[in-house]
Amino acid sequence: MLRSHTCGELNISHLKTKVTLSGWVQKSRDLGGMTFVDLRDRYGITQLVFNMETNNSLCLEARKLGREFVIQIKGDVIERSSKNKNIPTGEIEIEISELIVLNSSKTPPFTIEDKTDGGDDLRMKYRYLDLRRNPVRENMILRSKVAIETRKYLADLDFIEVETPVLIKSTPEGARDFVVPSRMNEGQFYALPQSPQTFKQLLMVGGFDKYFQIVKCFRDEDLRADRQPEFTQIDCEMSFVEQEDILNTFENLTRHLLKTVMNVELKDFPRMTFDEAMRDYGNDKPDIRFDMKLKNINAVSKNKGFKVFDDAELVLAINANGCAGYTRKQLDKLTDWVKRPQIGAKGMIYVKCNDDGSYKSSVDKFFNQEDLAQWAQTTDAKPGDLILVLSGDTNAVQKQMSELRLEMGEQLGFRDPNVFAPLWVVDFPLLEWDEESARYHAMHHPFTSPKPEDLNKLDTAPGEVKANAYDMVLNGSEIGGGSIRIHDRDLQKLMFQHLGFTDEEAQEQFGFLMNAFEYGAPPHGGLAFGLDRLCSIMGGAESIRDFIAFPKNNSGRDVMIDAPSRIDTLQLDELSLKLKS
Ligand code: AMO
Repeated sequence: MLRSHTCGELNISHLKTKVTLSGWVQKSRDLGGMTFVDLRDRYGITQLVFNMETNNSLCLEARKLGREFVIQIKGDVIERSSKNKNIPTGEIEIEISELIVLNSSKTPPFTIEDKTDGGDDLRMKYRYLDLRRNPVRENMILRSKVAIETRKYLADLDFIEVETPVLIKSTPEGARDFVVPSRMNEGQFYALPQSPQTFKQLLMVGGFDKYFQIVKCFRDEDLRADRQPEFTQIDCEMSFVEQEDILNTFENLTRHLLKTVMNVELKDFPRMTFDEAMRDYGNDKPDIRFDMKLKNINAVSKNKGFKVFDDAELVLAINANGCAGYTRKQLDKLTDWVKRPQIGAKGMIYVKCNDDGSYKSSVDKFFNQEDLAQWAQTTDAKPGDLILVLSGDTNAVQKQMSELRLEMGEQLGFRDPNVFAPLWVVDFPLLEWDEESARYHAMHHPFTSPKPEDLNKLDTAPGEVKANAYDMVLNGSEIGGGSIRIHDRDLQKLMFQHLGFTDEEAQEQFGFLMNAFEYGAPPHGGLAFGLDRLCSIMGGAESIRDFIAFPKNNSGRDVMIDAPSRIDTLQLDELSLKLKS
């Protein structure tokens, strides 16, 4: 071993011990007769001291060390005269007797500090240097703990970890596939899995009963802070279960992870139907760390001569607690915020609930004090509160109000990353209408089973059919989703018909699954967590990139290895591919 201890390990109990340490030079300082070097490794920082008087040549050598040089030292642990109580090694230092430079380093393009001067692009290009920084390393350690605890927890429950293939078949459902040309089968392509969905169902047909896998998935979709083209799922499936069994199993897994990794005890785990979530939060992944529910004020705001509301399908209000003191400038800023193209509202109406019980609104011309008192009653607004109102088509206004609610939650400090508020959203619609293709799409995926009591509506009112589908939401982010599956061939066939597949298309694309259903498929269901998302929320961050060792940027590029890249003509020829000229 090139070290006897790590750089985070030594303290006052090690005084007079002879030690060997290896690590990176974080920084060095020359103070007249002494040179101090901070030596860093994954575990911490230890101060080295080189004394000009006792060892002149060693001290001169130490002065030549640059940032990020890799060195090995031998020396004695001594007590520091000026102690640093903020770090575990802060009471000692090492008096050096031997110094070996294991490797030199160019000056890094950004500082390896918690708060670095490097921008995103630079950090991604030199990700191996970024990984040396504490916050990035801590994120990766958190991720490792989550993965290890997941394995422990599920293995204890008799889950079997199975690897499913990565070169599979392209299907038109869901997001776009990443495809891989096959050299041996000219003109044919594999697809990378968007998830192991069909394989885990086949494992159930294979009698595996309880399956899990921590698995890479690939989706060629537009990227956002919480989406990467390749990401990781904790993918699970169980046989002979009902929805309730799955919810309980994975609620407990979530409790276990928060407890063991973060020492957080999750209290409530409420359940909310999709319809309730949309009604109260305008969103199927509500952040319930705070209340501020959306209130429909149609009944008390329409037919008063205000055309904007009269023409609107839905008028929604929220109560921003204690915000009646917002200045004109603050309100204008908020109005501009909702009018940004990303939010898309045409305008915003406000009502200040004054301390004397009167109201001051931006629409006083149309609404008198009694009208506004009704708004206040509907939104439960008290003197000192501020009512914010948006109106328009139902879908649009729900989305806009949901964003405004989150923004107000943020401004009021209700979105504390150290508070964890999980919930299940259940009873999702089975199908959703897609304007572009003018047909219904599966809201979750085509293997999700409709609620038996809604089966008769499949023909007459397909949009109203509810599914045995559920999402787990944590702090306003969808961290997992799943469903009870169809395990009956005829029902699966019917489902494909409703999704606009001809029997031939269904057979060609999913024949393998429907055939399997003819050989004794057990009732089954499951779910998948987004591991990257789960970790980012546990770590209190918005972006999942910080929890992936080598992530892609927003254009789907790995700027460190410079991928994707061109391939040479020979390779293209071999794959029978031709580039558009
Ligand atoms: P779903 O598509 O809901 O379900 O995915 C499950 C979870 O994966 C995460 N996720 C992502 N994370 C990062 N980047 C992405 N591009 C991305 N896309 C999804 C989310 C999501 O909740 N086979 C089904 C699961 C099942 O039915 O068992 C599935 O893949 O956190």
